[in-house]
Amino acid sequence: CRLPGWDPGILLLCGPWLTFCLLPLPTVLPNRDEMVVQLNASFTLKCSGDSEVTWQYPMAEGGHRVDIRNEENNSGLFVTLLEVGNASAAHTGLYTCYYNHTQEEDGEVEGKDIYIYVPDPDMPFVPLLPEDQFILVEDGDSTIIPCRTSDPNAQVALVDSEAKVVYAFYDSKQGFLGNFPAGSYTCQTTVKEVEFKSDQFFIYILKGTLFHQCSTYNAIVLLCKRSDNCGVL
Ligand SMILES: *[C@@H]1O[C@H](CO)[C@@H](O)[C@H](O)[C@H]1NC(C)=O
Ligand SMILES: *[C@@H]1O[C@H](CO)[C@@H](O)[C@H](O)[C@H]1NC(C)=O
Ligand SMILES: *[C@@H]1O[C@H](CO)[C@@H](O)[C@H](O)[C@H]1NC(C)=O
Ligand SMILES: *[C@@H]1O[C@H](CO)[C@@H](O)[C@H](O)[C@H]1NC(C)=O
Repeated sequence: CRLPGWDPGILLLCGPWLTFCLLPLPTVLPNRDEMVVQLNASFTLKCSGDSEVTWQYPMAEGGHRVDIRNEENNSGLFVTLLEVGNASAAHTGLYTCYYNHTQEEDGEVEGKDIYIYVPDPDMPFVPLLPEDQFILVEDGDSTIIPCRTSDPNAQVALVDSEAKVVYAFYDSKQGFLGNFPAGSYTCQTTVKEVEFKSDQFFIYILKGTLFHQCSTYNAIVLLCKRSDNCGVL
C-alpha cells in the first residue's frame, strides 16, 4: 500500500498482510456523505486533524466565493473551516479535507469527502470549466460525460447530435458513464416543465500513443481546430 509522505512507522502498520490499509483521515463536520444546501444560504464545513489539514473544493467559472480559515483550537488539533456565505449551483460538488503532507503533486487527493448539492431551478446543471466539454478517450475505454446536476433528484437524459436518447448509467455526482462513440452529446433535464440543456460535450476517441500525447487542454483545442468539428471554437 502506498502512503505518500507517511513515516515508515505507519507504512509498517499497513504491511502486506492487510488487504487494504486504513489511511488515517481527518474528521469533517457535518459528518455526512452528502448534504443539500439551499440556494443563497450559507454553510460551513469544519475539518480537524492531528496535523495541518487543507480543503479541496469545486472551482467553476464565475464569481462564487469560498473562504478558508484556520481556527485557533486549544485541543491540540488543527482545525480548518470552509465557509460559503451565499451558496449557488456552482458550489455543487465534492469537498475533500486532507492532510497536506500526504498529498503528492498531481496525485489524487486522499481525504474525507462530503458532497454538497445547491439546487437552483434556474441552473439545474453545475457550470463547467471550458476544458470539461472536451473529452479524450483512449480507444476502448469507458468515460464520463460530466453533466452534474445541482439537485440530487433531477432526472437527466443524454442525447447525441441527432437528438437521439443514449442510454447510460447516470450519477448526479459524476455524470453519464459509458462507452460512447465519438461525437457530440448534450444532457437534458426538466424543472417545473421547463426543459434545460447542458453545454455540449465533445468526445474524441484516440488510439494509444496519440491519446498519451494529447491529454492536455491545449492539445484538445489544437485537435479541434485541425479537425474543424468543434462548434464552439
Ligand atoms: C436567491 O437570490 C437570487 C438573487 O438575489 C433571487 O433571485 C432568488 O429568488 C433567491 N433564491 C432563494 C431560494 O432565496
Ligand atoms: C477543537 O475542535 C475539535 C474538533 O472539531 C472539537 O471537538 C473541540 O471541541 C474543539 N475545542 C475547542 C476548545 O474549541
Ligand atoms: C447571492 O448570489 C446571488 C447570485 O450569485 C446574488 O444575486 C445575490 O445578490 C447574492 N446575495 C448576497 C446576500 O450576497
Ligand atoms: C502544502 O504543503 C506544501 C509543501 O509541503 C506547501 O508548499 C503548500 O503551501 C501547502 N499547502 C497548503 C494549502 O498548506
